Formats: sequence, structure tokens, C-alpha cells
Amino acid sequence: MKKLFVTLILVLFTAPTICLADGASDYKAKCAACHGAKANLLPKTARLLKADPKKLALKASQMNREEMIAITEKGKDKMPGFEKEMTKDQITSIIDYVMALRKK
Ligand code: HEC
Repeated sequence: MKKLFVTLILVLFTAPTICLADGASDYKAKCAACHGAKANLLPKTARLLKADPKKLALKASQMNREEMIAITEKGKDKMPGFEKEMTKDQITSIIDYVMALRKK
């Protein structure tokens, strides 16, 4: 009985952390270089990439979740697509992380 209790506690505490960390750490590894750690406006990076700063600031983007997932899969202009290196699940959790940043 005690063992079961300990296992339950462990699962309860680790599962949500793993799910949340996933999108956040993938975002930092794959997206932050161009879109910034907080998905904010980055005029300097935009100049370097010769991109529209408003499109880089994902936090301010007007796109909905599905449009963002589609762009992340297929890429757009100077942005590479990620469907070959990541699974749909990984991409979806990155976008969920970005959507959570947008609410802040
Ligand atoms: C090499 C730099 C680069 C990387 C890495 C990158 N992006 Fe982008 N991204 C861009 C550029 C440039 C644009 C603007 C494209 C355009 O001209 O419409 C963009 C646009 C977007 C848009 C559309 C925003 C809008 O409102 O128009 C989304 C969503 C997006 N990126 C998500 C991501 C995600 C998620 C990742 C990580 C998996 C990522 N990007 C990685 C450069 C990058």
C-alpha cells in the first residue's frame, strides 16, 4: 500500500512538469534564436534576418493555434519548416507554450 502511494505521488508531481517543460525547452532549443526567449519584439534580430519584426514577435501574433502549427511545420519565407525534425506532438506543445506566453 505504501509503495502504491509513493508511486502515485511521484506520477502526480512529475507528469505535469514533463509536459510543460517539453514545449518550453524545445522552444528554447529550436525557436528562441530567431524569435527570442520570450517571443517578444526583437528589432535587432529582425534586422539581421531582414524580417518583419512584428512577425517575429510571436507573443503579439494574431494567428490562431492551427495557423501557427501549420507555419511551424511547413515554414514561411526565411523561416525553415520543422516537420522533418520534430513530431506533430512536439510542434503542438511548442505552440501551446507560445500561446501561454501570449496570455501573459
Ligand atoms: C531561422 C530563424 C527562425 C527560426 C529558427 C524559427 N523561425 Fe519562426 N519565423 C521566422 C521568420 C523570419 C518569420 C516571418 C516569416 C514571414 O515573413 O512571414 C517567422 C514566422 C513565424 C510564425 C508566424 C508569425 C506571424 O504572426 O506571422 C510562427 C507561428 C513561427 N515563426 C513559429 C516558429 C516556431 C514555433 C519555431 C521553432 C520551432 C520557429 N518559428 C523557428 C524565423 C524563424
